[in-house]
Amino acid sequence: MIDTLLKAAVRDIADFPRPGIVFKDITPILKDAKLCDAVVESFIERLEGLDFDMIAGIESRGFLFGLMLANRLGIPFIPIRKEGKLPSKTTKQSYDLEYGTATIEIHTDAFAPGAKVLLHDDLLATGGTLVAASKLIEQLGGQVAGFSFVISLDFLKGRERLMPFSKKLISLVHY
Ligand code: PRP
Ligand code: MG
Repeated sequence: MIDTLLKAAVRDIADFPRPGIVFKDITPILKDAKLCDAVVESFIERLEGLDFDMIAGIESRGFLFGLMLANRLGIPFIPIRKEGKLPSKTTKQSYDLEYGTATIEIHTDAFAPGAKVLLHDDLLATGGTLVAASKLIEQLGGQVAGFSFVISLDFLKGRERLMPFSKKLISLVHY
């Protein structure tokens, strides 16, 4: 099963990026091409029947499997980036992280109103990042079709914060 394979690969790094945080390091997954394929295939199986036009991934770790998945499905990938990185006109949202605060933004012309967007990130923690990303999608007239992430830290209750945007949540591993 994919969750067993992923749990064996993900490394816990204590006290990163600051004391008290146990960081889930996905870099060992990225070194294993077959496991990356299995991750993408698992997402595709679980997305069966969901209606969406494109995938938006969140900088930086949301770019990794977000782009692989969009490419495999033959649909557009939209980058949601940290402030100051996107070159054209942007729409912004600020949010609280598990550690600190940040602002993310999207190109204002990233998609036409009415688009159904799957939001992808590597990990759901408090949900702050994905709530901000969901607001960006809705501000541009899009609809959040669902969420996908490799890892969900269920004890942080991020899931409840995402419910107002979409009830379709796909996570390959739960802690
Ligand atoms: C991490 C992770 C998610 C987010 C989850 O990203 O990759 O994007 O935090 O936290 P939340 O659910 O509490 O919002 P981070 O901002 O550390 O940056 P990175 O992806 O660039 O490493
Ligand atoms: Mg991130």
